[in-house]
Amino acid sequence: MTNEVYYPNPKLSKEARIKSMDEYWQLQNSAKKDYEGFWKKYADEKIEWLAPYSKVLDESNAPFYKWFIDGKLNVCNQCVDRHLEKRGDKVAILFEGDRGDIRKITYKELSQEVNRFANLLKEDFGIKKGDRVVLYMPMIPEAAFAMLACARIGAIHSVVFGGFSAEALKDRIEDAKAKLVITADGAYRKGKPYMLKPVVDEALEQGGDSVEKVLVVKRNNEEINLVEGRDYIYNDLIKDKSTECEFEVMDSEDPLFLLYTSGSTGKPKGVQHSQAGYILWAQMTMEWVFDIKEEDVYWCTADIGWITGHTYIVYGPLAAGATTVMFEGVPTYPDAGRAWKMVEAHKITQFYTAPTAIRVLHKMGEDEPKKYDLSSLKILGTVGEPIDPIAWKWYYEVVGRGECAIVDTWWQTETGGHMISPLPGATPIKPGSATFPLPGIMAEIIDENGNKPKVGETGLLCITKPWPSMIRTIWGDDERFIKSYFSTAKKDGKPVYFSGDGAMYDEDGYIWITGRVDDVINVSGHRLGTAEIEAAVKEDSHIAEVAAIGVPHPIKGESIFIYVVLKDEVELENVKEHVNEILASEIGNIAKADDIVAVPGLPKTRSGKVMRRILRSIARGEEIKQDVSTLEDPGVVEEIKKCVKDAKK
Ligand code: WTA
Repeated sequence: MTNEVYYPNPKLSKEARIKSMDEYWQLQNSAKKDYEGFWKKYADEKIEWLAPYSKVLDESNAPFYKWFIDGKLNVCNQCVDRHLEKRGDKVAILFEGDRGDIRKITYKELSQEVNRFANLLKEDFGIKKGDRVVLYMPMIPEAAFAMLACARIGAIHSVVFGGFSAEALKDRIEDAKAKLVITADGAYRKGKPYMLKPVVDEALEQGGDSVEKVLVVKRNNEEINLVEGRDYIYNDLIKDKSTECEFEVMDSEDPLFLLYTSGSTGKPKGVQHSQAGYILWAQMTMEWVFDIKEEDVYWCTADIGWITGHTYIVYGPLAAGATTVMFEGVPTYPDAGRAWKMVEAHKITQFYTAPTAIRVLHKMGEDEPKKYDLSSLKILGTVGEPIDPIAWKWYYEVVGRGECAIVDTWWQTETGGHMISPLPGATPIKPGSATFPLPGIMAEIIDENGNKPKVGETGLLCITKPWPSMIRTIWGDDERFIKSYFSTAKKDGKPVYFSGDGAMYDEDGYIWITGRVDDVINVSGHRLGTAEIEAAVKEDSHIAEVAAIGVPHPIKGESIFIYVVLKDEVELENVKEHVNEILASEIGNIAKADDIVAVPGLPKTRSGKVMRRILRSIARGEEIKQDVSTLEDPGVVEEIKKCVKDAKK
């Protein structure tokens, strides 16, 4: 924790929607006084309702909270149609390909593309309201068209990150019982084509029987295999579709999309989001946190496979009528100046990325930003993991020329949008702190019983009142929803939402996120459950036992450290390679471990429980604080230490 404070740039404050901490507290206090009244004001102002809601918040079936009861709307209308009159010729999506190809899509063109896509889904594939559609897509405009087309006709999309393996894709298809998969032949990365369609083929060979058809967008025109009667080419079918398509009238609480994310136990869970509450907060946070203005060009570098890509590349910016940049490539290709070159070329005003990317760009090109004109930048954002002071300062001083606000936004797949973040024109910033909850968000650090911890002591980061964009349930598993989020902490005797993160207050009431307190590892801002990693490895016939641990990593934030116990008769020449191959095929390359160590056994209590804390201490090279004498086999600790030491040689 640091006490260095950076005050907002007065020029930014003057133009900002929320101009001072006084204004912030006024808003937050008004929400505390009249919670429903607070949300009603914004719901009335921001949403184009097709039929009015009868009640703001229904808490009768907690924790299955409902918002804007009986209200009718369409999210695609909110993001596209309603802008046509005022912003028809404004660029909605500014696409830059890996190889520098540029495509500017106006709101009018977006409307036509989305309508044609929606007609295609209805007419050729029989997709109806409530059907699930899986998207396994690269970062191309058609991915956004597909999402909005689903929203338009009331289909529920589930975007699966393109880095996930066939096995992971199959699991997600099966859990959602998806009827259609939309994919691409592949796309370009670092100047070369890569493939996606073969992964879909493999997934559907392994299972995914609910899938009737596969729609393939051509991007790199590499050769692909087409299964007759199952696979269709988008580029052929879309040509003769009408650019008119009436949207479905949706209820506030109809599901909008599913997005699978990792938890501390079991398989990834399908986080279910709603229509009205989600889009309202997506739009409001674009206005408050990014202070988006009509002329701005906003760029978020996330992938649409993650929640950040959903809320802050597609839904939020478009609901706010903004120009959103979509980038196919990586910011370090062809060199570490690519991102800054793009900022200069497109006169980008808000730039939003992850601390891992900042660390990589810093390391690879400390002075690169100075070669470009970055004077268009006003607000810089970070998300996904805590940002360290070194990365923060470089971002602030070199990228932001000491003039930009840095919004360190804390939130999750489950929260739908930002929860804790500085406001660019109001909040005095302490580097590394996400500062304060946004107006209307009752984020608090408490213990299990709702008591506030002392300054500097870690507690549970909870949200003690329901909020509009919150997760509605885990797809098909209400019980797991309650268990995962509403069974750890209570306030005033009532279960409250627990995030899985630990955090603390400093003496000025600033919030400092300390990281996950559950068994979730955050690698480069990507969530992976230790249970999920362990289950994948355990399936292998050579392996008797496995434990996965997160350890600090200078670039990635955390990296994966795996202990394996081989079966008695087994000899494996290269354990690391073997286990990483399993992880790549069961989950995807993002799940590969940096350290994999074969050990003779795991430290267990007499009742057979694995003492993960001991394993964590050894992996991190920290002193073991637990009493090891009560272990079933106390000697194993020294043996494990030796294996780890040998492996590091
Ligand atoms: C972590 C990403 C510190 C946190 C939007 C959370 C952060 C998890 C921050 C959610 C931040 C996200 N500072 N940690 N600003 N933002 N996290 O669901 O551990 O992919 O629980 O959503 O990322 O990851 P998810």
